[in-house]
Amino acid sequence: MLKLIYSLYAFAKAIVTLPQNKMKMSQLNGKVALITGGTKGIGYGIAEALLTKGMKVAITGRSKASATQAAASLGPNAIGIQADVKSLESQEKAVVAVIEAFGQLDVLLANAGVGHFASIEDMSVTQWEDTIDTNLTGVFLSVKASLAAIKKSKGYIITISSLAGTNFFAKGTAYNASKFGLTGFTQALMLDVRNDDVKVTTIMPGSVSSHFGGRSPEDGKDWRIQPEDLGQMVVDLLQMHPRTLPSKIEVRPSKTASS
Ligand SMILES: NC(=O)c1ccc[n+]([C@@H]2O[C@H](COP(=O)([O-])OP(=O)(O)OC[C@H]3O[C@@H](n4cnc5c(N)ncnc54)[C@H](OP(=O)(O)O)[C@@H]3O)[C@@H](O)[C@H]2O)c1
Repeated sequence: MLKLIYSLYAFAKAIVTLPQNKMKMSQLNGKVALITGGTKGIGYGIAEALLTKGMKVAITGRSKASATQAAASLGPNAIGIQADVKSLESQEKAVVAVIEAFGQLDVLLANAGVGHFASIEDMSVTQWEDTIDTNLTGVFLSVKASLAAIKKSKGYIITISSLAGTNFFAKGTAYNASKFGLTGFTQALMLDVRNDDVKVTTIMPGSVSSHFGGRSPEDGKDWRIQPEDLGQMVVDLLQMHPRTLPSKIEVRPSKTASS
């Protein structure tokens, strides 16, 4: 009798878990992401990773030419949109363009960012404003513009902060302020929307090979994190079981430049 009960239990469990596993494997196929600042660097690497999972991706950049060109090199499931994260109107138009093109919006990757590094004496008001307006207010505006669509799809918001959002350094007044602010903003946002079935994570990378701050992606390629590594991380987050939320992730090169 006990054996019969166990067999029935095992059979029922198999029926319940099989469709869930299947759903997890294919859950990204056909989903739609908007990546701010996806023309190069980390945003572009994340776009490549999402496209390999069957997602549709819109990338933005400040110039129409660079956004269109980058989207063309990503392939037919990508579109490029000229949009400046410093403008709410521009972000709202970008969200409308995504929904017109793909019918829905499931994932916002608030990635666009700039870096101005100088001592407090040399940090100009223009550099300060560019950093805060892009890295902090730009994420707020990107979230404001997309939240209704993301709530509708019970989607995911991921911000790209930085280890500079928890570790401060000399010549980092503007960048540290923007990224400390972004880390706090994202955690508070997570608390605001988690019960609407919207997931929120901030990824805080250390040094990544990209064009950031005028660098070349080739500089330190042997030891820095690569954009595709963060692409893999985003895919893993999106595929995580819905009951679990890694809300703040620090990620660094496993070795330093000098090792
Ligand atoms: N690289 C690192 O070591 C590192 C480490 C930690 C965190 N991060 C963060 O990662 C994010 C991406 O940086 P990255 O390393 O990939 O740098 P990147 O190679 O310089 O790329 C920056 C991207 O942001 C876009 N962008 C800049 N200002 C914008 C604006 N106002 N509106 C829309 N798009 C804008 C650029 O597009 P256009 O130039 O075409 O407009 C570009 O696509 C940033 O938030 C950065 O702070 C980088």
